[in-house]
Amino acid sequence: MPMLTILTSNKTAQFVEGARLLDAILAAEESFTHKCEGKAECGSCHVFVHDGRKSLSKIQRTENEKLDAIVGVGSKSRLACQAMLGSENVTVELLGFKSGL
Ligand code: FES
Repeated sequence: MPMLTILTSNKTAQFVEGARLLDAILAAEESFTHKCEGKAECGSCHVFVHDGRKSLSKIQRTENEKLDAIVGVGSKSRLACQAMLGSENVTVELLGFKSGL
């Protein structure tokens, strides 16, 4: 089963292909802000995906529009509530409100 690693805590969680990245993070972390509960409206679930980015689902229009409104977005940015996991291990850095929302 593929593995999620969270920086900088180095917490990990296994996940099944097709799972939502946000759910895998919550399985590994006690708390991670996700204010709009996955509607791509708040941006609080902003993460950098350092490894395994290409195995995630493609960015759709609603996610792209929200990312455009967040300060500090880069090529590794995803909204955890919108990204579906693939078959590869993934490493993420949790940003959320630290990223200038
Ligand atoms: S939880 Fe609000 S954008 Fe992801």
